[in-house]
Amino acid sequence: MLTSSLLLAAAVPAAMAQNITFLTGLLGSLQSAGLTQIASIAQSLNSTSEGQNVLASLSSGSPYLLLAPNDAALENAPANVTSDANALASVFSYHVVPGSFNGTAPKYPNTTLARTLLVNGNYVQLEGNKPQVVAWSTRADGKVHILNQRNDSTVVNTTSFGNLTVWVVDHLLQIPQDLSTTIPADKISLTGVDAVLKTIQTPFFDSTTNASTNVTLFDALNTGFHGFTFFAPNTSAISLVQSQLQQLNTTAAQTVLYNHLLNGTTVYTPELPGESFVTAAGETLSFTLNTTGTFVTDQTTNITARIVQPDVLLPNGVIHVIDRVLFNTNSDASAASSAIASATSAATQTQSSQTAPIGFSQTSGLASPTGGSDTGSAVSAFGGASWGILVAALGVVFGGLITVA
Ligand SMILES: *[C@@H]1O[C@H](CO)[C@@H](O)[C@H](O)[C@H]1NC(C)=O
Ligand SMILES: *[C@@H]1O[C@H](CO)[C@@H](O)[C@H](O)[C@H]1NC(C)=O
Ligand SMILES: *[C@@H]1O[C@H](CO)[C@@H](O)[C@H](O)[C@H]1NC(C)=O
Ligand SMILES: *[C@@H]1O[C@H](CO)[C@@H](O)[C@H](O)[C@H]1NC(C)=O
Ligand SMILES: *[C@@H]1O[C@H](CO)[C@@H](O)[C@H](O)[C@H]1NC(C)=O
Ligand SMILES: *[C@@H]1O[C@H](CO)[C@@H](O)[C@H](O)[C@H]1NC(C)=O
Ligand SMILES: *[C@@H]1O[C@H](CO)[C@@H](O)[C@H](O)[C@H]1NC(C)=O
Ligand SMILES: *[C@@H]1O[C@H](CO)[C@@H](O)[C@H](O)[C@H]1NC(C)=O
Ligand SMILES: *[C@@H]1O[C@H](CO)[C@@H](O)[C@H](O)[C@H]1NC(C)=O
Ligand SMILES: *[C@@H]1O[C@H](CO)[C@@H](O)[C@H](O)[C@H]1NC(C)=O
Ligand SMILES: *[C@@H]1O[C@H](CO)[C@@H](O)[C@H](O)[C@H]1NC(C)=O
Ligand SMILES: *[C@@H]1O[C@H](CO)[C@@H](O)[C@H](O)[C@H]1NC(C)=O
Repeated sequence: MLTSSLLLAAAVPAAMAQNITFLTGLLGSLQSAGLTQIASIAQSLNSTSEGQNVLASLSSGSPYLLLAPNDAALENAPANVTSDANALASVFSYHVVPGSFNGTAPKYPNTTLARTLLVNGNYVQLEGNKPQVVAWSTRADGKVHILNQRNDSTVVNTTSFGNLTVWVVDHLLQIPQDLSTTIPADKISLTGVDAVLKTIQTPFFDSTTNASTNVTLFDALNTGFHGFTFFAPNTSAISLVQSQLQQLNTTAAQTVLYNHLLNGTTVYTPELPGESFVTAAGETLSFTLNTTGTFVTDQTTNITARIVQPDVLLPNGVIHVIDRVLFNTNSDASAASSAIASATSAATQTQSSQTAPIGFSQTSGLASPTGGSDTGSAVSAFGGASWGILVAALGVVFGGLITVA
C-alpha cells in the first residue's frame, strides 16, 4: 500500500503531476489480480525522479500497456535490480509502453515492436535520446512471448484499469544489453564477422577526451555509436567469402563492412520494406518483404540477402543478422556524409511520444505499415514514417535463447 512517507518525497514538477486517486485504484486492482508485489515496487518507484515520472505517465489518463511481472517473477528477480531504487525505476520503465495495445496486437508479419518509457542514458543510447523498444510475438503455442529475453518470458494473464492494459508476465524483463554481452548470452551467430570487426579500425570522436581516436568497429558498435543499424552476416555467410575477404587490403575491408552499416540511425524491420538507406560507405541498400521474409539488396552489386534474425536490440542500435555478405567495395564519401547529416538532423527533431507499434501509424489490430512509399531516401523514412515499432518477422527464439536457424 502507499504509505504517508511516500507522500513526503521530493516534489514532482507540475508537468508530471501524479493522479493519486488513479494510482491508488490501480494498485488495488493489481492486488486483487494477485499482483501483490507491485505495491512495494510502486513505493520504490516514487523515491526516484525517474520512477515518479513513470507513475505520472501511468496516471495521466492516456492509454498505456503495462507489462506487469507477477509475484513469482519479482521474487526471482535479480537482487541488484530489486534492491536498487534507481535500477528498479529504469527496469520498470522498460515495462511501460505508451499507446493502446488492447485487443488484437498488430501482426506485421508476426511480431510487434514498440517504444517503452526507458530513456535513462545508463541503459539506452539511441540517437536523439529515443526510448528503448520492446518486441513481442504470438507463437504457435498461442502465447505472447517477449523477445530478446534470456529467460523465455510470456504473458500469462491480462487485465485492465481505466485506459491501462495490463499484461501479466512471468519474468522481470531484461533491458537490452551491449553487443559484447549479447553475442555470447543470446547466441547470435556472428562468429566470423565479429573477428573481422575487431580488426578494422574506425575513426571515433571521444566526447570525454574531446579528441579523435581510432577504435575497432566492434568497439564502435559495442559502445561508441549512438544510433546505428548493422546488417551482420552470419557465420556461414562469412565463411562463403572468407578467402575474398582476406585478399582485401584494410581500406577495402573497411568499405565492405561500412556497406553493412547505417550510421546514426536505428531502423527496425517493420520500417525497412519499400525503403532505401545510404550506408556509411555511401552506397544504397533497398528492402523488400514477401512471404519468405525481409530482404536487403545492395543496389550496386545487386547482391540480395535475407534477414534471418531481425531486431537484435542493443542499447545503442540494432543488428539484423543476414545470410550473405553484401560484398561491395565501392564507396561514395559525399553520399555517406550526407546520409550521416540527414540522420543527425532527423535525430535532433523533437519527436512526439510514440503511441503506435514501430512502423505503424495507429495501434488498431489492422494498422497499416507506414513504410512502403519508396522514395529512395533515408530522410523520408525518418521524416515520414513514425519512428516507433519494429516487427521481427523471422526471429526464432527457443527457450529464450536467440538462435539462428
Ligand atoms: C510520490 O511523491 C510525490 C512527491 O512527493 C507525491 O506528490 C506523490 O503523492 C507520491 N506518489 C505516490 C504514489 O505515493
Ligand atoms: C484521476 O483519476 C481518477 C480515476 O481514474 C479520475 O476519475 C479523475 O478524473 C482523475 N483526475 C484528473 C485530474 O485527471
Ligand atoms: C488472471 O487474473 C484473474 C483476475 O484478474 C484471476 O482471477 C486469475 O486467477 C488469473 N489467472 C492466472 C492464471 O493467473
Ligand atoms: C482514455 O483515453 C482516451 C483517448 O486518449 C481519452 O479520450 C479518455 O478520456 C481516457 N479515459 C480516461 C478515464 O482517462
Ligand atoms: C544486474 O547484474 C547482472 C549480472 O551482473 C547484470 O547483467 C545486469 O545488467 C545488472 N542489472 C542492472 C539493472 O544493473
Ligand atoms: C479492452 O477492450 C475490451 C473489449 O473491447 C474492453 O472491454 C476494455 O475496456 C478495453 N480495455 C482498455 C484498457 O482499453
Ligand atoms: C586513424 O587511422 C587512420 C588510418 O586508418 C590514420 O590516418 C589516422 O591518423 C588515425 N587517427 C588517429 C587519431 O590515430
Ligand atoms: C586497396 O584495394 C583497393 C581495391 O583493390 C585499391 O583500389 C586501393 O588502392 C588499395 N589501397 C591501398 C592503400 O593499397
Ligand atoms: C559515424 O557518424 C559520426 C558522426 O555522427 C562520425 O563522426 C563517424 O566518423 C561516422 N563513422 C562512420 C563509420 O561512418
Ligand atoms: C522473396 O524475395 C526474394 C528476394 O527478392 C526472392 O528471392 C524470393 O524468391 C521471394 N519469395 C517469394 C515467395 O516471392
Ligand atoms: C538484379 O537481380 C534481379 C534478380 O536477382 C534481376 O531481376 C535484376 O535484373 C538485376 N538487376 C541488375 C541491375 O543487375
Ligand atoms: C506467422 O504466423 C502465422 C500464423 O500464425 C504462421 O503460420 C507463420 O509461420 C508465422 N511466421 C513466422 C515467420 O513466424
